[in-house]
Amino acid sequence: MKEGKSFMAAMERRFACKNYADRPVEDADIAFILECGRLSPTSFGLEMWEFHVVKTPGMRMALHDACFGQQAMKSAPLSIIVTARKGESYDPYGELIRQRASRFPGTMDEFVDDFQGFHEYLKDKGFLDQWSEKQCYIAIANMMTGAASLGIQSCAIEGFRNDKVLALLGRNPAHWNVGLISTFGYPAEDETRERIREPLENLAFYH
Ligand SMILES: Cc1cc2nc3c(=O)[nH]c(=O)nc-3n(C[C@H](O)[C@H](O)[C@H](O)COP(=O)(O)O)c2cc1C
Repeated sequence: MKEGKSFMAAMERRFACKNYADRPVEDADIAFILECGRLSPTSFGLEMWEFHVVKTPGMRMALHDACFGQQAMKSAPLSIIVTARKGESYDPYGELIRQRASRFPGTMDEFVDDFQGFHEYLKDKGFLDQWSEKQCYIAIANMMTGAASLGIQSCAIEGFRNDKVLALLGRNPAHWNVGLISTFGYPAEDETRERIREPLENLAFYH
């Protein structure tokens, strides 16, 4: 597995890249980026996602179309789509929970005891789908920073048509949502740009 540059150097280097050079991302780098997603944490360790790698010309064009023809999608040699399982997957006695829980050191009953109250709350509030989609942002964030550590830029994309993207991936919208997408590639635009951010004193509060 490759090693990237230091975390803060990667954070500082990354920017939302809209134009990519005509240079593919090598398979070893794709594997590194995917590993950054795989190692990302999820609520209760449930890993309620899939990572879909798009790099063939036909799929790239179709994805570009499903993302409102956005500029960042047009030249990107690589996009990764993180999909999220919908609410019904999280039944405490269902197949997914049984399989995921079986990997942990405690017993199934202990896992379900722990999970059940929170699941009930999410279900009652109608929050299960959004809870599952939120996890995807963590995977994409880590993939983006990891990619930047290799000199590969990215752009998170939430401007997508959910059903169109799922149809491209062969995933049933009754069971899946798209969480978040990111493009990746080598930039064909200036990497040195002012980072527009609020100063920390406007954002950080100590209690
Ligand atoms: C969750 C998320 C969704 C985004 N969606 C889009 C998008 O659909 N299209 C786009 O061009 N940029 C998108 N962006 C990029 C942001 O506009 C960009 O990150 C932000 O302006 C800050 O710029 P920087 O990343 O270069 O610092 C998205 C960013 C995030 C974090």
